[in-house]
Amino acid sequence: MARITASVYTSHVPAIGAALDLGKSDEPYWQPVFKGYEFSKQWMKDNQPDVIFLVYNDHATAFSLDMIPTFAIGTAAEFAIADEGWGPRPVPKVIGHPALASHIAQSVIQQDFDLTIVNKMDVDHGLTVPLSLMCGVKDPVKDAWPCPVIPFAVNVVQYPVPSGQRCFNLGKAIAKAVESFDEDLNVHIWGTGGMSHQLQGPRAGLINKEFDNAFLDQLIANPADAAAIPHIDYVREAGSEGIELVMWLIARGAMKDIANNTVSARARHRFYHVPASNTAVGHLILENT
Ligand code: DHB
Ligand code: FE
Repeated sequence: MARITASVYTSHVPAIGAALDLGKSDEPYWQPVFKGYEFSKQWMKDNQPDVIFLVYNDHATAFSLDMIPTFAIGTAAEFAIADEGWGPRPVPKVIGHPALASHIAQSVIQQDFDLTIVNKMDVDHGLTVPLSLMCGVKDPVKDAWPCPVIPFAVNVVQYPVPSGQRCFNLGKAIAKAVESFDEDLNVHIWGTGGMSHQLQGPRAGLINKEFDNAFLDQLIANPADAAAIPHIDYVREAGSEGIELVMWLIARGAMKDIANNTVSARARHRFYHVPASNTAVGHLILENT
């Protein structure tokens, strides 16, 4: 039987990818950011998953205003690295897990969540930056990511966006789906994006450390309250792009303590840093106990 053993949460700031790709990670501006992921890279090696279920958002790269799926699951055997205007990032292509992905699609749709099935999709910084942060620098040809990845794209770019509550409930359904897969797989679920940031308009550059840290506290110890935050509060408090945080609730909803009603996931690592480009970087690793 497959099981989820841990969840990982991290921001996906594209400039972090550029800093890694251009060899700038030792510069004084970036050093404190990457220092926060030293523990995490070792933890990934010590707790190697068989599959990563990676919840992220596409930034009008694979999708556009032509078509806006609220929730899209990548069922392909592999996913190319997207060209976001400067050529694709020099990182390995992403190998999928079609058997587990199609099982999750079947189970989650039968649990009444409407998913879009995506058999061809390029993946942008929303997915590749978290992989780089957690797995380190990789050669695009000679290296590979440590395991297959199932991309799960959430629309947080174009209104209407899904509520945090729906995302939390979807996480519960994903956990049930994984547990009914008839193969012994260790699965990590990642919630990415956030924390507070606003990239445009009069409030561009907004950062809210208080909101971010309260959200981290709540996500660990009081996730049901975090799930109840209405979308307008994210926008007001964490900026227009702060809404990316609803994706963290999918990963949190998939943890065992939620199904068991115990709120006992173990926080292995917590990190928060400002600045990184226009965004507050937040990062958390939770293990099932
Ligand atoms: C930035 C952050 C994002 O989440 C994103 O998608 C694009 C840019 C930034 O901080 O610059
Ligand atoms: Fe983003």
